[in-house]
Amino acid sequence: MNFPRNLLMPSSELRKKLDKIEKVFDADQVLAMDVDQSVIVDYYTQSNPGYSQFHSTDGSVHMALNFDGKFDQQGYYGQAKLVQQQIDQINPTQVLELACGKGFNSVYLATQNPDIEFLGLDLTPVHVEIASQTARDRDLKNLMIQQGDFHHLNYPDHSLDIIFVVESLCHATNTPQVLEESHRVLRPGGMFIVIDGFRKKPSEAITEDEQKAAILVEKAMAVEKGLTLDDFLNLAHQAGFADQDYQDLSDAIMPNLKRLEGLARKFFRFPFLARRTAKLLPPYLVKNTIAGLLMPTTVSNGIHGYFVVNLTKDQ
Ligand SMILES: C[S@@+](CC[C@H](N)C(=O)[O-])C[C@H]1O[C@@H](n2cnc3c(N)ncnc32)[C@H](O)[C@@H]1O
Repeated sequence: MNFPRNLLMPSSELRKKLDKIEKVFDADQVLAMDVDQSVIVDYYTQSNPGYSQFHSTDGSVHMALNFDGKFDQQGYYGQAKLVQQQIDQINPTQVLELACGKGFNSVYLATQNPDIEFLGLDLTPVHVEIASQTARDRDLKNLMIQQGDFHHLNYPDHSLDIIFVVESLCHATNTPQVLEESHRVLRPGGMFIVIDGFRKKPSEAITEDEQKAAILVEKAMAVEKGLTLDDFLNLAHQAGFADQDYQDLSDAIMPNLKRLEGLARKFFRFPFLARRTAKLLPPYLVKNTIAGLLMPTTVSNGIHGYFVVNLTKDQ
């Protein structure tokens, strides 16, 4: 039987990549990983040298948004610029970044908006230290960084104007709780901006290899289970966010993904060497190569997507 070429191509590319990974890693063990908060902290602690050296020397722990198809480090400011668009609309006095990482977004926004108070919260001590040090080094009096868990927000009801979160809600162990907490602390008319990767299709709608690739990508980046965008929007609705809009930014992360794929391909080129290297390096750091190799394919096959979701609390 003749299959259309465009249907055959992606799955065979995926199979080749899965074969490469299986020559180096015990894929079943990665697929069976249980990701809890201690794993998330270990993942970011171990991965920090890799992110700093190979991803962004300026402290971004998220994908660059490059809308012209070419990788450029300026794209790391893309997410903060999307938040700035909402700041310009709402004129907030207080903005909270959940999971601020090393502070890249909040430092940029606090510098651009000296009259607004910014708060940053993160679980991983090494990220909190770096973000706090950067805020001190830049003498940013309007940015306060705290260690904490975004499932429990230590702010009064109806107190914040904007909450945003970049590539971190995927780590939630209880997404409805984070949505409810964010809804509780936002003032009426306040906004929750979520920028993250989501599954685009439910598990039943993808092949076995696609399902395997999706889970490998997620576990390799300390995500217990990818949510579909539809499921997330339903949960947001149940938490009280009836006013929702979103935009698909998947194409804009492709240049960054391709760049990371190039690095991962070098790692997987010689399986024997890769196996030896994998034994020497911290385990969570080295598993990033799995996501690096697979993600351009899971995104271009429409299994994963990257979105900005704007949720507004009713007036
Ligand atoms: C991919 S990084 C993104 C960091 C930052 N938002 C950025 O754009 O550079 C994900 C971050 O989520 C944080 N994180 C994961 N689970 C968290 C939780 N329950 N509460 C607070 N932060 C969390 C991690 O510590 C890590 O810093």
